Amino acid sequence: MQPYFPFMNTEAKRNMLVTSALPNANGAIHLGHLLEHIQTDIWVRFQRMRGHDCISVCADDTHGTAIMLKADEQEITPEELIKTINREHQEDFQDFHINYDNYYTTHSDENRFFAEQIYNRCRDAGMIAVRAVKQLFDPERNLFLADRYIIGACPKCKTEGQYGDNCEACGATYDATDLIDPKSAISGAEPIEKESDHYFFTLSKFQDFLSEWTRSGTLQEQVANKLAEWLKAGLKDWDISRDAPYFGFEIPDAPGKYFYVWLDAPIGYMASLKNLCDWTEGLEFDDYWKKDSQREVHHFIGKDIVNFHALFWPAMLRCAEYRTPTAVHVHGFTTFDGLKMSKSRGTFINARTYLQHLNPEYLRYYYAAKLKGVDDLDVNLTDFPQRVNSDLVGKVVNIASRCAGFINKGFAGLLADVPTSTDLIGDMVAAGDSIADFYEQCEYSKAIRTIMNLADRANQYIDEYKPWILVREQGNEKEVQEVCSNGINMFRLLITYLKPVLPNMATESEKFLNVESLTWDNRSALLVGHRINKFKPLMTRIETSQVDAMIEASREKPEAAAADPVNEVAEIEYDDFAKVDLRVARIVKAELVEGADRLLKLTLDIGSETRSVFAGIKAAYAPKDIEGKLTVMVANLKARQMKFGVSEGMVLAAGPGGKEIWLLQADEGAEPGMKVT
Ligand code: MSP
Ligand code: ZN
Repeated sequence: MQPYFPFMNTEAKRNMLVTSALPNANGAIHLGHLLEHIQTDIWVRFQRMRGHDCISVCADDTHGTAIMLKADEQEITPEELIKTINREHQEDFQDFHINYDNYYTTHSDENRFFAEQIYNRCRDAGMIAVRAVKQLFDPERNLFLADRYIIGACPKCKTEGQYGDNCEACGATYDATDLIDPKSAISGAEPIEKESDHYFFTLSKFQDFLSEWTRSGTLQEQVANKLAEWLKAGLKDWDISRDAPYFGFEIPDAPGKYFYVWLDAPIGYMASLKNLCDWTEGLEFDDYWKKDSQREVHHFIGKDIVNFHALFWPAMLRCAEYRTPTAVHVHGFTTFDGLKMSKSRGTFINARTYLQHLNPEYLRYYYAAKLKGVDDLDVNLTDFPQRVNSDLVGKVVNIASRCAGFINKGFAGLLADVPTSTDLIGDMVAAGDSIADFYEQCEYSKAIRTIMNLADRANQYIDEYKPWILVREQGNEKEVQEVCSNGINMFRLLITYLKPVLPNMATESEKFLNVESLTWDNRSALLVGHRINKFKPLMTRIETSQVDAMIEASREKPEAAAADPVNEVAEIEYDDFAKVDLRVARIVKAELVEGADRLLKLTLDIGSETRSVFAGIKAAYAPKDIEGKLTVMVANLKARQMKFGVSEGMVLAAGPGGKEIWLLQADEGAEPGMKVT
């Protein structure tokens, strides 16, 4: 490679820490989340291609009532729930080529440490106030009820089934105590009013600081304007405590009180970095977070959580003597054909479902092509495949496939050995500066538009010289080689610019071009007298049938249809089946489990030993109905720690659940411990 267009990067090397909002640990990653994580990942890859030092961290947000209740519902511990979800989240991100340097959890020692430290510093600075708060309380479950756990009729329009904060029918907002005939959504009990002490962070004292901070270039203008409205209305102190039972961190000097999940969630950014520092040579936490740090901290978040990141968070950091973020980058919401994601329309699409039908880079490209500031991003289901096919397959990959054949066949893969500059290649190298600006500003749609304009021009260039006609006549060899070499160089530049968006296609292209890793700086070193490899198709077209299948798979089916047809379950090999050790077991004891809604605890005799197993059959069987009966159990299932104890296997039953569940029974004559074949 020879440097042909001299190029100098004058930007000084920057050090940055980049984060995405921490996904809640009570559900799967969906295409809404992915808008954020793909945006972040593109930005990080871009910064690294520019030669900057850029660390990215994220984590699961694991605390709060929703996670506690979800674990209860599944009759597992919250710890077990968040562990499983964390693994799934990480796999989803990895398969979308979203690479965090650390993907951690807020339920960690590091996070507890920083949460306590920041709280203590705020308290010592006189910024914590304790006040009695009256709240609705579920006397059956013994817990205070947040607004979304109270259901009743709207005090204005009387519509039934409304939540405790606002009415979906008439739009009225009110206090939960105003609801007519309120009920706890958790137990159905009638809530009572109860008072308890709450801890407040005195946000009102940060009015001046925040008025300045939000206008200091840290936020997009639209966001800063919105915040100016809130600031003008005046800031209220922020309630940072919740009463037990709560899954979270207990407040050190207030037994029975827990940090509200939103206190320790953003602190999770610090904890994830701290954890990374612990196993990464040369990486120092203080370099990023100390008060006067010159390094950059960038948060990427959705528009629904701006108050937490642009008010509470900088105020707390300031109070606790840490640096405040360099920038908070806010994006809008993903919609489908103009509407909110919906389970019944099949547009509430999980990351995993998408991956079962489509290439992750299609979505990365489509999001990048449409991302515009804080605006919502609409996935138009007709436009999505068309756009990807026409831009990536029709324009970009097409350039390489048109030129590579001639070079490989006619010139043994060798590109022309004189620099064959054209004005267009010069323009393409120069355009890298404005494309970089667009990436830097998170104006990805503008970056993509610029890149696709260049791709159009590259195709026009090839159309103009028509190498497929030139080759027909002898004596044109040199020109064919030059035109196609230019085409390959144009392709190389396009891929360089698309590399943050399409990392996998870029890697495959680097192999085809037979070059080292493409960067912004080395883009001006054109390929001259260089041997390329054989061309393999770099991306296939999306078929609309794939998109349809994904929507169908995401559609929530009405109850009756939900029963999975036998042929939809994945096949397994005989060997997989043979691993399952099924044994006849006698239920020697069946007991109710205190606090469990669905479980019975079974003591099973399998001849050589007895096992203790929790089974979700309480609604269908009274203990005395099944005591003494023979059933079938999975005897070699790894013991699982459940909320109410360890379960050492599983019994077999059929049915959709609830009352409709039938335990498999064996005829008398079979002996406990016999292998089921
Ligand atoms: N756990 C909090 C964030 C704590 S950050 C210290 C939370 N979690 S979330 O799972 O509900 O959302 C995580 C991120 O995904 C948020 O930035 C949110 O805006 C974003 N999105 C969730 N649904 C979305 C869409 N439908 N579209 C785009 N982004 C959306 O909030
Ligand atoms: Zn109403």
